[in-house]
Amino acid sequence: MLFPGDAGASQAVAIANEQERAPLFEGLLEYARKKRIPFHIPGHKRGKGMDPEFRNFVGDNVLSIDLINIAPVDDLHHPQGMIKEAQELAARAFGADRTFFSVQGTTGANLAMILAAVEPGDKILIPRNVHKSILTAIVLSGARPVFMEPEIDTERGVAHGVCLATVRRCLAEHPDVKAVLVVNPTYFGVCADLKGIAEAVHERGIPLLVDEAHGAHLYFHPELPMSAMEAGADAAATSMHKLGGSLTQSSVLNVRGDRISSDRVQAVLSMLTTTSTSYILLASLDAARRHLATRGRELLTRTLALAERARRAINAIPGLKCLGPEVIGDRSSSYDFDPTKLCITVTGLGITGAEVEILLREDYGIEVELSDLYNVLCLITPGDTEESVDRLVTALAKIAAVCFQKRPQREVVVRVPKMPPLAMSPREAFYARTETVPLFASEGRIMAEFLMVYPPGIPLLLPGERITAAILEYIREHMEAGLPVQGLEDPTLREVRVVSE
Ligand SMILES: Cc1ncc(COP(=O)(O)O)c(C=O)c1O
Repeated sequence: MLFPGDAGASQAVAIANEQERAPLFEGLLEYARKKRIPFHIPGHKRGKGMDPEFRNFVGDNVLSIDLINIAPVDDLHHPQGMIKEAQELAARAFGADRTFFSVQGTTGANLAMILAAVEPGDKILIPRNVHKSILTAIVLSGARPVFMEPEIDTERGVAHGVCLATVRRCLAEHPDVKAVLVVNPTYFGVCADLKGIAEAVHERGIPLLVDEAHGAHLYFHPELPMSAMEAGADAAATSMHKLGGSLTQSSVLNVRGDRISSDRVQAVLSMLTTTSTSYILLASLDAARRHLATRGRELLTRTLALAERARRAINAIPGLKCLGPEVIGDRSSSYDFDPTKLCITVTGLGITGAEVEILLREDYGIEVELSDLYNVLCLITPGDTEESVDRLVTALAKIAAVCFQKRPQREVVVRVPKMPPLAMSPREAFYARTETVPLFASEGRIMAEFLMVYPPGIPLLLPGERITAAILEYIREHMEAGLPVQGLEDPTLREVRVVSE
């Protein structure tokens, strides 16, 4: 997004004016006002044929735009009217050549981005700590992943992004890769030198794909880290529903330049997307883009101030440390930082992040984004107020005080195991002949399914990896801490599917 006052100010003003419109949302409202007699799905027909309690709860307004792709309201699979216009306005807001709306979250956008960029057998460089949607795309596409080691933060027990030097080294070692994917920003707000990475990747004439699930807001405030489109990435899957203010499950896929064919992206996205797209989700994307493009700067200025207030107060609480901009330059993958993410390390309290999450929920009515063994993550957005932030800080201070007084301090040792080696491609392992064995007797076997903690959804084990004692111990620790370990066919997690020997 160009900001008034930046270079190209008159262009910025023209863009700002057009961004006041929300053609899809407005078009749906106009259609709803006509009160046409529907003889089409959805069969609830503006709520009249549905459970009355649900109808009353969600309200007739929402139900009046719960439509299907009838001619007057355009079709996401072949947009020619109001959806096309809404996507074009979004593209200008994001600085993309084309923006595609996804009603299947960033999972759908990630799948489409990868399946459009690589073919079966192609090599693709990806960090090992990616969301499962990326690895699902690897299995479905038949592409061969070459894993780049992310930088491990041993103080907090989290993985950050990959640094420029790692990308350059991997490109030199694998001159035949067909695409590179990075995650930026990370869940915890750390950003890589994305511009440098884009240049290095483009020197090879191949595209840079960005999983930008946690960066929708970056486009709308000049003090936030550089967005994927600004950095020169060829495609970015950006979760509008996470931090951009649209409804859950709605997301965008931004495409720029000609290293990736946008027509191919449209075709692949259409292959992967339900034919019954939710117009409520689509309208929320259109409205969220309008809101961010016209008021985002002002809203995010306030958000940044609230985040700063929270960070300062949390860092003053004995036993707590909140990751902040000091991380920049600390290690080579930390080039910039998104301060709206509060990654609070609780090791100084002698309890786990999961325990702090439960105390916040049960004693203070506060729900965090995620916790792990060592941290809790809280997100500050335009939906926050001084009151919500102060309640979080007060609750953390009380928890910390109790821990200091009542609990004998035990040393929390941060441990992050080495990722297990890949013994066969994820796709081969997923489609191989398999058998089940007890999870904790599976050391040395080749994994045939995913096992992860959700959130954040980054697999601890993925198909094709040889299971190690260290990773089994790490999984056991997560289970004992009550963290949400999931992904196996066996929901009790007793048995795991491995490749038959
Ligand atoms: C880095 C990352 N990528 C992709 C996704 C998937 O996004 P969605 O839930 O919108 O499908 C997530 C979800 O948490 C994520 O953290």
